[in-house]
Amino acid sequence: MGYKASFRVWRGDDTDGELKDYTVEVNEGEVVLDIIHRLQATQAPDLAVRWNCKAGKCGSCSAEINGRPRLLCMTRMSVFTEDEVITVTPMRTFPVVRDLVTDVSFNYTKAREIPSFTPPADLKPGDYRMQQVDVERSQEFRKCIECFLCQNTCHVVRDHEENKEAFAGPRYLMRIAELEMHPLDVADRRDSAQDEHGLGYCNITKCCTEVCPEGIHITDNALIPMKERVADRKYDPIVWLGNKLFRR
Ligand code: SF4
Ligand code: F3S
Ligand code: FES
Repeated sequence: MGYKASFRVWRGDDTDGELKDYTVEVNEGEVVLDIIHRLQATQAPDLAVRWNCKAGKCGSCSAEINGRPRLLCMTRMSVFTEDEVITVTPMRTFPVVRDLVTDVSFNYTKAREIPSFTPPADLKPGDYRMQQVDVERSQEFRKCIECFLCQNTCHVVRDHEENKEAFAGPRYLMRIAELEMHPLDVADRRDSAQDEHGLGYCNITKCCTEVCPEGIHITDNALIPMKERVADRKYDPIVWLGNKLFRR
């Protein structure tokens, strides 16, 4: 059975804006993105929202619903009570372009800063061989749909604009871990993870993992193992001696 829901939606851009109240029809089986689309069709034709697949796969419709970072297309209206006011706001960590659309270019900048897969120079593409266990380890990370909800949630940048320069964020530290764990990647990514991409800023609060719509264990399977690898290197007596002798 349909009902009328109360929505509060952020209207405006980075310089000015406000939450506007709307009453919108809701039908059985709908998700929040359906309601946003109905709003556009009936009351707010200029409401800006980014979306593509409506199937939780393109990562475009990220926003915050009642303060919680979520995909608009994967949030069922049935998780709210009929008398609840549903507040929809843009992701807080990135500049607002307009209404629910944010400028996520921070993430593309961070992606470009990570050197790509580096196989041994003499290895021909047809000679690549790796164990199934190594394939499976990185497979989990490859499920990422680049929704940037984890990047938006991590407190290191969410409340600290000044950390954006030095911190790649969970999605890209996970990318570094994926490459570091790859048996055919010969680049040593441990020093740069710490020194250039800000791995040390992560204090494993796991908020990134909690909001990941793909259920990737970002903290346990990527960030903590990466921290262990960095620590191993730091406390390896041979590395320590090498640093003492050659890096004075
Ligand atoms: Fe989104 Fe998860 Fe990928 Fe982060 S790791 S960008 S939350 S899919
Ligand atoms: Fe941030 Fe996730 Fe680490 S939320 S602090 S990157 S565990
Ligand atoms: Fe593609 Fe929501 S529209 S993930």
